[in-house]
Amino acid sequence: MKRDLLTVLDLNRAEIERLLARARELKAWQREGKSHRPLEGKTLALIFDKPSTRTRVSFEAGMAQLGGTSIYLAPGQTQMARNEPIPDTARVLSRYVDGVVIRTFAQETAEELARHADIPVINGLTDTHHPCQVLSDLLTIQEHFQHQCLSHLKVAWVGDGNNMANSWITAALHLDFTLCLACPQGYEPDAGLLQEAQKKGRRVYLTRDPRAAAQDVQVINTDVWASMGQEEEAAARREVFKPYQVNNELLKLARPEAIVLHCLPAHRGEEITAEVLDGPQSAAWDQAENRLHFQKALLEWLLG
Ligand code: CP
Ligand code: NVA
Repeated sequence: MKRDLLTVLDLNRAEIERLLARARELKAWQREGKSHRPLEGKTLALIFDKPSTRTRVSFEAGMAQLGGTSIYLAPGQTQMARNEPIPDTARVLSRYVDGVVIRTFAQETAEELARHADIPVINGLTDTHHPCQVLSDLLTIQEHFQHQCLSHLKVAWVGDGNNMANSWITAALHLDFTLCLACPQGYEPDAGLLQEAQKKGRRVYLTRDPRAAAQDVQVINTDVWASMGQEEEAAARREVFKPYQVNNELLKLARPEAIVLHCLPAHRGEEITAEVLDGPQSAAWDQAENRLHFQKALLEWLLG
């Protein structure tokens, strides 16, 4: 039966751990220059309703490195933009290609596509989830702390309770690390996910105070204050989010060995200072690279 990745909750803990281990192996093979082409003859379609640098390029490069090929469908360039029903698109694409990555607004759009497709559908970001990013981030964390057990970690999320914050909660649900989220009132992550974390007894905490969240953590995470589709709110959000900037002062509260993650693109001087993003504790560039390696492990598993 085909599998989809629409949220982290589509995988179980063992599958996540296996994918992370495989991603480490594929990364090492790439470093050694070893050719590995299990997806020869396979095609991946990328339906993107929002812009992208990392997600698009890492999926396309990953497919090429695995011997497959990809077809990028830019915003507005499919008949879906002219109201062709999603189920029809799903059925037709299932006859041509072996998998689809979709980046869109509503999570329901990705879910509807997956329901009607006979091929794996991967969420390349929606307004509410970004599973490929957070799973790749776990690889970065494992590498930096040189151990594979994530449950001892303490992670902070500082800023908007957006798609990335939700994805961090889904990761904590499965992997049982401590997650402290600091978000302003009215900008909290998904209430249902927070409730589920509470019901399951997970160590997921929400506060208004970025300093409390950052205290003693090994990882500080942040993201833009206005996500794609929220451009008109950007000015108002800049005011609300000012106290949530990740700067050196906040970083000092974390453990001395702490790393800072940002999924990028970043706005230096807003959610993060240049000093921190370009500083010695930033893991943002490894983080961007690891999208490639994690997604290759994912593609090999789902399409292979
Ligand atoms: N982090 C991330 O998904 O980046 P892009 O928007 O460039 O794909
Ligand atoms: N929260 C951001 C993530 C970008 C990768 C957005 O949705 O725009």
